[in-house]
Amino acid sequence: MVENDFTSVQILDNFYQTSSYFPMPVVLISTISPSGKTNLGPYSLCFPYIIAEKHSMLLISRSNSNTAENIRRNKVCAINFIPYNKKLLKNCVMLGYPGETTEEKMKNNKFTLIPSQRTQEEREPLITYPEIVDEAIQVFECTLDESFQVYNNEDTLESHYVLKINKIVMKKEWKKSLFQGKEFPDLPIDFGYRNNINFWFSKHSTPYAEPIPKEKGNSVNTVSYAAQRVDPEVEWTEEACEKLVKVPRIFLKKALKVCVEIAKKEGITLITPEFMEKIRNKRAIETEEA
Ligand SMILES: Cc1cc2nc3c(=O)[nH]c(=O)nc-3n(C[C@H](O)[C@H](O)[C@H](O)COP(=O)(O)O)c2cc1C
Repeated sequence: MVENDFTSVQILDNFYQTSSYFPMPVVLISTISPSGKTNLGPYSLCFPYIIAEKHSMLLISRSNSNTAENIRRNKVCAINFIPYNKKLLKNCVMLGYPGETTEEKMKNNKFTLIPSQRTQEEREPLITYPEIVDEAIQVFECTLDESFQVYNNEDTLESHYVLKINKIVMKKEWKKSLFQGKEFPDLPIDFGYRNNINFWFSKHSTPYAEPIPKEKGNSVNTVSYAAQRVDPEVEWTEEACEKLVKVPRIFLKKALKVCVEIAKKEGITLITPEFMEKIRNKRAIETEEA
């Protein structure tokens, strides 16, 4: 073997934090305790799971945590993305001490709880929805997706939950930036409970933009050829096709189809660059309506 700088690492349990460096988010999950109180539990193993059509998160939790038990019982939770702030993270670690009941741990809670932001139409009768964290930058209000069987290993006490995202709410200032794509909120990065003594957090630095390589783009002709074949009732101007030259070829057909679907819904038969501008970001429409 050619000499290099790699050496093997023993793969231990909780390998992501014991045998590797794995940057993770920090969220506080709110659930409803058996007494009807909101419980907050810090979690990092919480990632996007199904991202198209259905929208869900995967949560990996100790199966006997308050959060896991509450999700199995009530099927609802909210995922609160807290900002980077040392005082808040200290409290977050406090709320992560295992084995405390909701009443015991919530006495030390320093986060502000406000009611769920679900509207009346977004609520099921007889279900109590957990409060959310006012300091959060964004909150995903979720329900357990019962079409997936909960993975629950009774020996290792590891359990996995697919959480359907019903609603995302975000602080107004950050929603504006979401559309402009220039500024990013200060969210903490968790490197885990590495040495059985400390949790390790860091602040992220300001993201920078790395453009897609020019040579990977399509020619306008390629886009135009594919565009005219999506639906005979919807025409495209060349300038509209130009807006899609940077879409990777494997996604082009799907992107064209989505534009045509939106055009048909709005009764439009010629797709122009102005229309593309409007739908390039479905959120633009959302802002207009908000
Ligand atoms: C920053 C942080 C991240 C954590 N991430 C996880 C995780 O992803 N999964 C897990 O099972 N426990 C995780 N824990 C430990 C739980 O927070 C701990 O089991 C706690 O008791 C859960 O609270 P609950 O019982 O109220 O749900 C984490 C703790 C901290 C402080």
